[in-house]
Amino acid sequence: MSATTTASRGQDGDVEPDGRHGRRLAFPDGFVWGAATAAYQIEGAAAEHGRGPSIWDGFSRVPGKVADGHTGDVACDHYHRYEEDVRLMAGLGLAAYRFSVAWPRVCPTGSGPVNARGLDFYDRLVDELLAHGIVPYPTLYHWDLPQALEDAGGWTSRDVAYRFADYAAAVHDRLGDRIRTWTTLNEPWVAAFLGYCSGVHAPGREDPAAAFRAAHHLLLGHGLAASALRTAGAAEIALTLNLAPVIGTDDAVAAVTRVDGLLNRQFLDPALRGHYPRDVLEIAERHGGLGHIRDGDLEIIHQPLELLGINYYNPSFVSAAPGEPANPAFPGSEGIRFDPPAGPTTAMDWPIDPAGLESLLLRLSRDYPEVGLLVTENGAAFDDVVRDGRVADAERVGYLDAHLRAAHAAISAGADLRGYLVWSLLDNFEWAYGYHKRFGIVYVDFATQRRIPKESALWYREVISRNGLSY
Ligand code: NOJ
Repeated sequence: MSATTTASRGQDGDVEPDGRHGRRLAFPDGFVWGAATAAYQIEGAAAEHGRGPSIWDGFSRVPGKVADGHTGDVACDHYHRYEEDVRLMAGLGLAAYRFSVAWPRVCPTGSGPVNARGLDFYDRLVDELLAHGIVPYPTLYHWDLPQALEDAGGWTSRDVAYRFADYAAAVHDRLGDRIRTWTTLNEPWVAAFLGYCSGVHAPGREDPAAAFRAAHHLLLGHGLAASALRTAGAAEIALTLNLAPVIGTDDAVAAVTRVDGLLNRQFLDPALRGHYPRDVLEIAERHGGLGHIRDGDLEIIHQPLELLGINYYNPSFVSAAPGEPANPAFPGSEGIRFDPPAGPTTAMDWPIDPAGLESLLLRLSRDYPEVGLLVTENGAAFDDVVRDGRVADAERVGYLDAHLRAAHAAISAGADLRGYLVWSLLDNFEWAYGYHKRFGIVYVDFATQRRIPKESALWYREVISRNGLSY
């Protein structure tokens, strides 16, 4: 199964008879089913085999930055337990596994000689996945910048984009013979605006001008890495963005447009159309200027992409609120209120809104029709408990089921959605929330490292095996 398999739809309006279960909502043949994780959130082994420190190692030790001072030092100990974890994936019938490569394992100081022992881990992981018939989908940057590069300015420094491309080429050198689809960045908006503006993520800086520079250099790094990967022979290249419909009442059109620009179009347009949206440039200009954008940068950023990775959790609701100060993560959002969710929420207090996924997928296929779509993350945290050795997470099943129905509706309406990767395979280190928020379909008892597939995992196994949902 590959992400490029041509999709063929069921004949009966995508509703097909299913011998065992009555009728089902069938997904296209070749639809890619999988799960996702990220290095710092699951690996642990923070000082092993020459791994250098990352910005999250330092940030998680700053008092007050991460709940209860949790760190990724041990996390799910996946570095040592990857074989067990791959067996778990195979048992669930996953066809694809999205993981991230830790830059500080491969280049402990961000640049300079490659640490072969760091790459050995991903070499073993990829072989293990392939031996179990699971297609590996590596992401090259999921927020764990080598600390040495942060010390040299982090993503506010243009040089880091070039170092990222060198690192991408080094990973391709080792794994390129077995990887078909390469993702450069995960959620550059979060890396730039939570890392350099609101300061709730590493490196914890609070400077809007730095955030716009970081966003541009992340995009530049994406373009340079994509070009290096392509030259090295990569078949498919993807960029994963956190995207969300921005919703407001009729009197909030300007607010909706502004937030949509900052969150969505700031990244979509340069990567897929080769230019920044004018409204975003105007805001950036008022926050430090545009001196960091050089002639030729947009051509570098605008690389051919086979896939757009979509991380969808919830829409943003905004209204016009004169006098409201800017949201710390959205410079230029003065006079805009981010409204609290009205309906049901997850344990993150994020609204549950599957219709947002459908409208997002349709908007992307309308506005950026040339790129294939892959949901690289979707999922929910709930306060799971183990009872009699089981985790009955009916709310997560409901969340996933509703979002898959929304994805199916979008496909039926013409969206070129190639697959769906649930966030996350395992409960893990949820950044500033530490281990308190559980997104996994597999429960992790962090004291013993015991894994317990939740009922959502068993439900997902059924969905995968039937390539569809009960009608
Ligand atoms: C998106 C991020 O990529 C992932 O690391 C995080 O855990 C989930 N969202 C949930 O917040």
